[in-house]
Amino acid sequence: MSRIFNFSAGPAMLPAEVLARAGDEMLDWRGSGMSVMEMSHRGKEFMGIAAEAEKDLRELLMIPAGYKVLFLQGGATLQFAQIPMNLLRGKGKADYVVTGEWSKKAVKEAKQYCDVAIAASAEDRNFTYAPKSFSVRKDTAYVHYCSNETIGGVEYHAIPQVEKNIPLVADASSHFLSRPVDVSKFGLIYAGAQKNAGPAGLTFVIVREDLTGQVAKGTPSVMDYKLQADADSMLNTPASYSMYVAGLVFKWLKQLGGLAAVEKLNIEKARLLYDFLDASEFFQNPVAKEDRSRMNIPFTLKDAKLDEAFLKGATERGMVQLKGHRSVGGMRASIYNAMPIEGVRTLVEYMREFEKKHG
Ligand SMILES: Cc1ncc(COP(=O)(O)O)c(C=O)c1O
Repeated sequence: MSRIFNFSAGPAMLPAEVLARAGDEMLDWRGSGMSVMEMSHRGKEFMGIAAEAEKDLRELLMIPAGYKVLFLQGGATLQFAQIPMNLLRGKGKADYVVTGEWSKKAVKEAKQYCDVAIAASAEDRNFTYAPKSFSVRKDTAYVHYCSNETIGGVEYHAIPQVEKNIPLVADASSHFLSRPVDVSKFGLIYAGAQKNAGPAGLTFVIVREDLTGQVAKGTPSVMDYKLQADADSMLNTPASYSMYVAGLVFKWLKQLGGLAAVEKLNIEKARLLYDFLDASEFFQNPVAKEDRSRMNIPFTLKDAKLDEAFLKGATERGMVQLKGHRSVGGMRASIYNAMPIEGVRTLVEYMREFEKKHG
């Protein structure tokens, strides 16, 4: 068996240990005689799997009482609509911070439901930094920001300050579980699983309970946070297999020592690549140093005509999915929790070699 280093932004690498365990349990989950895929979501086996996944996630993120943890479907994209439907609570106004492609999409969708104001924007510097001060309307229902922009590689390393009575909402899709986070500072945090926490098809929503239960008229039941919370995220059939694999990822993270330990590894991996980029005259990363993402690292070559040759050489060396997003070009290395440090070392060695040859 040979595993390549997959730098995809998502779906992305999963820990080999998790995949091996899922493989071992594929035909017969712990003596049940069936695969998790075949289990009724109402049966005691799956109910146990779901409860344990929630317990482990709560432990990893130290989620306070008073917050509901939901395992939903529809991706983070559905949350762009589901959030206003649930959190406007009759207010009709929401404020958004724009730091790149994903926050722009969130704004576009929210505009269908309410009056959106831009609380801060990084457009003035081509979305290469994370604005820290927001201009927020007193009567806004919430403030939304993307805490890690997957395409631009811009990450908030501290939680932005907003007035205490205004709920802060974060799209944490691409750095969820990469570091500890103080959940009590948020009204809601959401993330698709397929980058750092499991297979596609599953979306995590962590929401302060008092914000739920006042959905806009016409909201489908499956999109009502309170109804989902009351039904333990099983108002209908959940993404059961994805939940099971995410549960295995949570166990793996706990075994590594929890999120503080995982963060250390992520800092080390990101530093390897950024240190190289900063010393290089051939490769460049455009993001302000203090806002650089540890998870998604875009970079360009001095001469874009060499992009294809770079990608070809990378593939030959067992490194794939390094092509940057079509909206920005260049390269992007997504180095989520499951990317081993050897993957980053191999990439840096290759970049050094490439620069020597073409620089
Ligand atoms: C920050 C961010 N938000 C939202 C999304 C959309 O996620 P999904 O495809 O799960 O709807 C992505 C996906 O890449 C993302 O990176």
